[in-house]
Amino acid sequence: MKFFIDTANLQQIKEAQDLGVLDGVTTNPSLMAKEGITGEQNVIDHYKAICDIVDGDVSAEVISTDFDNIIKEGEALAKLHDRIVVKVPMIKEGVKAIKYFSSNGIKTNCTLVFSSGQALLAAKAGATYVSPFLGRLDDISTDGLALIEDIRLIYDNYGYETQILAASIRHVMHIVECAKIGADVMTGPLSAILGLLKHPLTDNGLAQFLADHAKAAGK
Ligand code: G3P
Repeated sequence: MKFFIDTANLQQIKEAQDLGVLDGVTTNPSLMAKEGITGEQNVIDHYKAICDIVDGDVSAEVISTDFDNIIKEGEALAKLHDRIVVKVPMIKEGVKAIKYFSSNGIKTNCTLVFSSGQALLAAKAGATYVSPFLGRLDDISTDGLALIEDIRLIYDNYGYETQILAASIRHVMHIVECAKIGADVMTGPLSAILGLLKHPLTDNGLAQFLADHAKAAGK
């Protein structure tokens, strides 16, 4: 399972990269705004800075909603770095653009996916990644993990190569359950990634080992 971090915060990206388990980054316009990154050139510079930190794919989202401008924006983003994946919303013009990009060797991440029908369409268009937002489904009392299971089944039925990028991950159990289902990638906050480390028996066991070692050494 690939681990992506879902943030535009350079410090957090560096921390995840230093842990040695990071496979990529996803961003969106809200995450960029949260870091105070505004203006076309600043956004471009920020994507380049992210690409310089990580080894894997970096999703950069278009803000256009019509085909011609999605293509223009996506081609410009793809030229920034070979790690850039153009993130395109699941709308009619977006599906057309994903088909265009996939036919022209540009990697895509189809975002804002909330149903298995949308995921099927993204795969048909040749998306590199599909991003079902499981946390946002949970937020409205719908089973987000059930959607990941359905997409896995559908993609396996036909051998679609589109990778399931479980997005809107909120906590450790989302990551573990997505791994059990067989999501190809998860993208989540640093807190969820670091949360995987934690178990009270690990902390208690280590404290005991260190105390016993110190006692035996006469300290
Ligand atoms: O990047 C897309 C997705 O992961 C958003 O997550 O937490 O805003 O629902 P969230």
